[in-house]
Amino acid sequence: MNHRVDAPEQAIDFNNENSNTSANPTFDAVLGARLSRRGLLRGSVGTVGTAVLGGFGVTACGGSDDEPALLGFAAVPKSLADTVAVPTGYTASVLFALGDPMAAGVAAYKNDGTDTNYAQRAGDHHDGMEWFGLGTDGKRNDSATERGLLAINHEATTDEKLSSFFLHANGGTSTLPRPPSEVDKETDIHGIAVIEVAKTAGKWGYVPSSALNFRLTALSDIEIAGPARGHAQLITKYSPTGTKTRGTLNNCGTGKTPWGTFLTGEENWAGYFTRSATDDAARNNDKSVTSLKRYGRNQGAASRHGWETGGAEDKYQRWNNSKLGASTDGRDDYRNEMNGMGYIVEIDAYDKTRLAKKRTALGRFAHESAAFGKVEAGKPLSVYMGDDSRGEYIYKFVSTALWSEADANAADRMAVGDKYLDSGKLYVAKFNADGTGTWVELSLGNAAISGYATYKFADVADIAINTRLAADAVGATKMDRPEWNAVNPANGEIYFTLTNNSNRSVNPTSSSQYLPDAANPRAYTDEKGTTKQNGNPNGHLVRLKEGASVSAFSWDVYLFGAEAGADKAMVNISALTADQDFSSPDGLVFSKATGICWIQTDDGAYTDVTNCMMLAAVPGQVGDGAKKTLSYTKTDGSKLDIVTTVGKAATPDTLKRFLVGPKGCEITGLAETPDGKAIFVNIQHPGEATAMADVNDATKYQSLWPSSAGYGAGKRPRSATIVITKNDGGKIGT
Ligand code: FEO
Ligand code: CA
Ligand code: CA
Ligand code: CA
Repeated sequence: MNHRVDAPEQAIDFNNENSNTSANPTFDAVLGARLSRRGLLRGSVGTVGTAVLGGFGVTACGGSDDEPALLGFAAVPKSLADTVAVPTGYTASVLFALGDPMAAGVAAYKNDGTDTNYAQRAGDHHDGMEWFGLGTDGKRNDSATERGLLAINHEATTDEKLSSFFLHANGGTSTLPRPPSEVDKETDIHGIAVIEVAKTAGKWGYVPSSALNFRLTALSDIEIAGPARGHAQLITKYSPTGTKTRGTLNNCGTGKTPWGTFLTGEENWAGYFTRSATDDAARNNDKSVTSLKRYGRNQGAASRHGWETGGAEDKYQRWNNSKLGASTDGRDDYRNEMNGMGYIVEIDAYDKTRLAKKRTALGRFAHESAAFGKVEAGKPLSVYMGDDSRGEYIYKFVSTALWSEADANAADRMAVGDKYLDSGKLYVAKFNADGTGTWVELSLGNAAISGYATYKFADVADIAINTRLAADAVGATKMDRPEWNAVNPANGEIYFTLTNNSNRSVNPTSSSQYLPDAANPRAYTDEKGTTKQNGNPNGHLVRLKEGASVSAFSWDVYLFGAEAGADKAMVNISALTADQDFSSPDGLVFSKATGICWIQTDDGAYTDVTNCMMLAAVPGQVGDGAKKTLSYTKTDGSKLDIVTTVGKAATPDTLKRFLVGPKGCEITGLAETPDGKAIFVNIQHPGEATAMADVNDATKYQSLWPSSAGYGAGKRPRSATIVITKNDGGKIGT
């Protein structure tokens, strides 16, 4: 997310850390040979077939003659209206909003700040989401299309001056200390929800009293799994053995494993912790200080909500990440607590009795989605991941275990997770200027890591916990904020959204700014009213194609976000039209039912013209476009030419706006029924620019959604899941 995008820079820091001051390279050399131009659009997709794609479960990709054409709908215009707009012939309905009851006996949501018991209600800021089919017996059924579970991330909360003000009757307490009753609500609305949904008499709804529903909050008991389990850097007062932690936090992107579990990424967790102003000295300036700084927590850092001031109880004190105790290993305080956040967490959505596990082998950073590459029997599994902060990196995990089809339907799903996600190799991406790339393994066997002067790595667990530092050591490529990634079921290529980056500059003036390079080639100025937005304010999407070896890939820029009217030489390079233009791509999901690539935005740059949106795309493949040179003149008069490769230009048949959300929201998360006839989408933080002082004056709310859509009590805006169906019963996006 890009929280409170209209707020001053310091106000958004909790969600947009900027702690990569490494000297890692950028690239400005000339691109070399390119791949073939063979298109992989509708019509040829079917030739790839399921034999190659194994566990992808690809069904019709719109390629056969009896399938309706994709993107057959009329584009939805850009809009500043306070509604959810979808194409003619489609219906969007609200399904599950902040505060909705999730257990029998929980009172209906009053939505006036007096509600309690949020651990049994929908959390806030609905984000990534996955579908888990249910049979009539209430058990897993992968082909079910009218009954299932939705596992939903609740990323964060709409706040101002510490308080999540829509949760509290008069906006809550905006100074320290925070009352424990307010803190308890705020910790409870974070985490994830699993809810049962069903189509009954033609209408979708969720089941408020289903015994399958459950929540994890910022305080739920969770196991540490993988190489960091039991490590000295995870010892806390709560877990002197370093094997457990409490809670999952700032859950953004998601993933679904081939064995039917839910993966959730912990993104901007660092901002929830505080450190004392003298903590560096308290730690004798040891290497933990280097780690804390690299993950965005300098000494003296204030916490986002002041939860540590809720009282003396452990559940409040754990948010204070300072060294306070006398122990040498941290068993008497929470100096190591932050090392328990920042992972991909595996959850069995079908079984709330199983403890969730933090899969530390997949590294620790600001995680977004976790997408599996081609699943093939007898081969390792690959999981792709991005680290969403300015100038951070793209990663790949490759399992030690080789895939066995028998594991797809194993009864003990978490045990399958142990097998594939606790042991493997972690790689970081280097994008070469010639259109090739290298996955660099992060291991002590690499002299750049074992001999890294900035940080002395002790063991493999140290790399799992301090992944960013290891990636710095090997010279990974700084990207324009890697958000979600998704794998094209037609050909296995990996797409990443790079949402925006204000630090990209042709004239860098500090170590936190860097030149454009081949994979992040734009640095320009966009105007929003009288405000100038510098860097790459509109973002882009890159895509990767794996090579013959585990360490080789090729890549191109699939699409550049831009305003349709922007300069086509340097900004609107993809020549987007008014039906296609977008800014700050974030959520990204490929439909397995249709092959459509859904692109969602979390924007602050183009929001003077349009609310955030979702587009439907039918992409080709890496190398289907052409080279492009961006010619810059620096302030000293020297020239800088950046050569990149841009995908084949979109047409009205391959890119079209499908949805525009209400005011102040981002669009994020998408799950579908296997038949492609219903999609679930999240509307996150409508009305987030509302002032805390106006919390009880609905006439001043930025948004009145979803009450304006007829949903629920009260007028306070609420994050919510919507369900979209086609009125003729067809597949979504046709
Ligand atoms: Fe939660 Fe990076 O979006
Ligand atoms: Ca976002
Ligand atoms: Ca996001
Ligand atoms: Ca503009």
